[in-house]
Amino acid sequence: MRAWLMDSYDGVAKLRLGEAADPVAAPGQVVLAVKLAALNPADAFLAQAQYPAKPALPHILGRDGVGTVISAGEGVANVRAGDTVGLLRCNAGVEEWGTLAEKVAVPAASVTTLPAGWSEEEMAGAPLVFLAAWQALVQWGGLPPQGQALLVTGASGGVGVASVLLGKSMGLTVVALSRSADKSKRLLELGADFVFDPSSPALRKDILAALAPRKVDLVVDSVGGALFNQVIATLGYAGRVSVVGRSAGPVPEFNTATLFFRRNRIGGVSVGDYTPEGSQAAWAEIVRRLEAIGRRPVVDQVFAFDRVKDAFARLAEGPMGKVLVRVS
Ligand SMILES: NC(=O)c1ccc[n+]([C@@H]2O[C@H](COP(=O)([O-])OP(=O)(O)OC[C@H]3O[C@@H](n4cnc5c(N)ncnc54)[C@H](OP(=O)(O)O)[C@@H]3O)[C@@H](O)[C@H]2O)c1
Repeated sequence: MRAWLMDSYDGVAKLRLGEAADPVAAPGQVVLAVKLAALNPADAFLAQAQYPAKPALPHILGRDGVGTVISAGEGVANVRAGDTVGLLRCNAGVEEWGTLAEKVAVPAASVTTLPAGWSEEEMAGAPLVFLAAWQALVQWGGLPPQGQALLVTGASGGVGVASVLLGKSMGLTVVALSRSADKSKRLLELGADFVFDPSSPALRKDILAALAPRKVDLVVDSVGGALFNQVIATLGYAGRVSVVGRSAGPVPEFNTATLFFRRNRIGGVSVGDYTPEGSQAAWAEIVRRLEAIGRRPVVDQVFAFDRVKDAFARLAEGPMGKVLVRVS
């Protein structure tokens, strides 16, 4: 099969389109003919050895996708050859070969049929980021109470859009941050109540004025960096920050005293923590909620298979939603 091969840990610029052995379905697995794959920043981190997983080389990246089942291993009962399915986050593209290939072997327990009315493109990029956003929103003891204020940094990205949509489905007031005027407009169309530019010197004042007399109850932060201290400064009493990523790098300086008096809490998110059963249950709830608010996952752009490096460049530049690759 044709696949984008990672021969070294020198970054996605070094990926090579070549030939790899066709995967075979082990017991409990299915082999998919991949139609669409989706990119995640973690692919680029893994390719630079900046990720906990260090798979054997050559490796094939790609954690999300849609494909047609072409064979099933022993014991598979939930799908059969010919079914078109989406992939929920699993070991594909992490320790095992992923979806940037014509075929991929994945656990049958980690595939799901497409929700009614969804396009293959909408399905292909949604699972990893929606599962991450879901964990970020519910990890503090279940659904946040309706009417609470949610702040989403990096709101135009994969995790950001998912957090905005799921936050609206929970009846939260959503404040989104984006550096781009165009993407800010799209975020308002998607239902964000307020959108601000994170680089504005008046950021904290503007957020608090918009929410007054409330303050921020919950943050989904995928940016980190220098913005983090300003995010903390918008929190109200018992405010929580779910730390998903750090697109802007490490926080240059952090004073733990900023957490004391408002009893604020910070907690990490790891999409890798889901069991197959847990991700199926969360995914069903995510789909139900999107249906309830009449929204779908947002696709930024679809690149041809031979343009995977351009697709990674688009991801690095800051997309609006998900960057996809059409494999076949
Ligand atoms: N912990 C987990 O389990 C988990 C799961 C998924 C993702 N992640 C991590 O979460 C982060 C976001 O993932 P994603 O898929 O949403 O990425 P993405 O689609 O690339 O979006 C990131 C967004 O963040 C904003 N951004 C980027 N650099 C920024 C900077 N220097 N300052 C301010 N804003 C910046 C951009 O929005 P604007 O251009 O609109 O400002 C961009 O669209 C990544 O670090 C990823 O590895 C972690």
